[in-house]
Amino acid sequence: MSAPHSPVGAVGPAGRAAAPGRTLIVSNRLPVTARIVGGEVRLQESDGGLATGLRSVHEDQGGLWIGWSGLTDRAALRGHHVIASRLHDVGALSVPLSEEEVAGYYRGFSNSALWPVLHDCLRQPLVGGRDWELYRAVNERYADVVAEHLRAGDRVWIHDFHLMLLPRLVRDRCPGARIGLFLHTPFPPAESFATLPEASALLEGVLGANLIGFHTRDYGRHFTAAVKLILGRPTANYETEADAHQPSVFTCPMGIDVPFFAAWTRKPAVITEAAQIRGDCGGPLFVGIDRLDYTKGIAERLRAFERLLELEPGLRGRARLIQVAVPSREDASGYTENRRTVEALVARINHRYGDDEWTPVEYRYRRVDTATLVALYRAADVMLVTPVCDGMNLVAKEFVACRDDEDGVLVLSSWAGAAAELHAAVLTDPNNLDDLVRAYRAALEMSAVERRVRMRHLRLTVETHDVFQWSKRFLEALGGPVGHFAGNKPRLTGRESAGLRVLHESDGHRPVADWRRGRAG
Ligand code: ADP
Ligand code: F6P
Repeated sequence: MSAPHSPVGAVGPAGRAAAPGRTLIVSNRLPVTARIVGGEVRLQESDGGLATGLRSVHEDQGGLWIGWSGLTDRAALRGHHVIASRLHDVGALSVPLSEEEVAGYYRGFSNSALWPVLHDCLRQPLVGGRDWELYRAVNERYADVVAEHLRAGDRVWIHDFHLMLLPRLVRDRCPGARIGLFLHTPFPPAESFATLPEASALLEGVLGANLIGFHTRDYGRHFTAAVKLILGRPTANYETEADAHQPSVFTCPMGIDVPFFAAWTRKPAVITEAAQIRGDCGGPLFVGIDRLDYTKGIAERLRAFERLLELEPGLRGRARLIQVAVPSREDASGYTENRRTVEALVARINHRYGDDEWTPVEYRYRRVDTATLVALYRAADVMLVTPVCDGMNLVAKEFVACRDDEDGVLVLSSWAGAAAELHAAVLTDPNNLDDLVRAYRAALEMSAVERRVRMRHLRLTVETHDVFQWSKRFLEALGGPVGHFAGNKPRLTGRESAGLRVLHESDGHRPVADWRRGRAG
């Protein structure tokens, strides 16, 4: 299928485009998102872990980032030049989408059908066949744009669940291309994934890639099991004559841009704002920062905070929770209900326990700028990262990167991919109210020495496995040129499973040993 629209934007800042062996990053979301505000086109940095994490990699490497600007093609017409020039500045190119496509491909199939299944939340209703058609059509459009811009020596790095058909579609158009796919979500047990009528088509799409990346080994294991269960691929027999390539599954947990956050913590404005946030109430400050998504466990977190106040009268009038929730996917299934639940809980807690002097929960329903984000991380006594299911969760890592004072406690859900690395956090199961309350209490009662020991462990992990190391490892495993990243190649060991090579790192990344063995307090 040929592209019905021509792409908006340009190939990138002067000089970069001409460099051989580029990495073409391909994702639904670009590093900037266009919105119409008061009749005018505004561009702002995109929210979400993929955009914030990959932005640093893309800035470091150059290359080209292909994605959607956030506006439908009709709305984008008005700001065509502004959008094109801003995207040009950041080395990006926009794939235009119509209103119908955004409704079916993004809000419909991606966010209302695929997202809940990938997070193993089968409570969300599945959607109709038209959404699937539009998902396919948009993936085809992306494939045309990629094929149009791909040059000899380039490699293609596709991201996330919106584009699961794309590896195969690019492979059909460019059989020799090096193609990587990184899935930023969890991958559920094979039986859960099999509930999607489109499961086999999606898996076939993914298997067009040379390298398929996941944040944790469990997700990779589930994917491999799904290939076996759903496609019935006999073990070690995947390679076909037509493809002559063998896709590999690679565990590669994403990190963050640590120096970026470290630099922000030193800014005087951030230090002042952190002090203002703490104020002079003298009680402990809990902080939560998330996209407003039902997978983030915000309602569970609030219920546990309410229970804590119920059980501990001494905290009333003192303890505070600041919950920042950035609006997200407001028209997709499940999001409005979740927002209502969260806001009703905030109102109930403040009504039950608040008074003229003290508001237990401060709820900010908006995006905050980097200074405020970092000030909140610095001000928190207890950082609450309690998703019921989350591919990785970069907020947990950002909090740690901002705490060079070696203080503050991270309460982290075992259901976040980050828990596989951040063992020195206070781990909890957000589905269990009592366990969440236990974790809150453990954080409040923790000695200063224990906080420091845990934070040191956490910081070591976050600093040594940052976003640059993540992309370097993925791209080296994918093969082809690796830009100007320095360092040794990871040593990979492989084994066969469902005809996929499953690669494990043996490059010295050892999970932090059970911190309790090194306990100092
Ligand atoms: P997800 O990708 O599901 O949104 P992550 O935790 O991996 O979850 O990444 C979220 C990213 O969005 C982080 O970089 C975080 O700093 C940012 N973010 C989350 N909430 C807000 C907010 N209210 N204001 C500004 N940035 C936010
Ligand atoms: O974590 C999954 C994810 O798709 C990220 O990759 C992305 O950054 C985030 O959710 C934000 O979602 P959206 O692009 O729908 O706003």
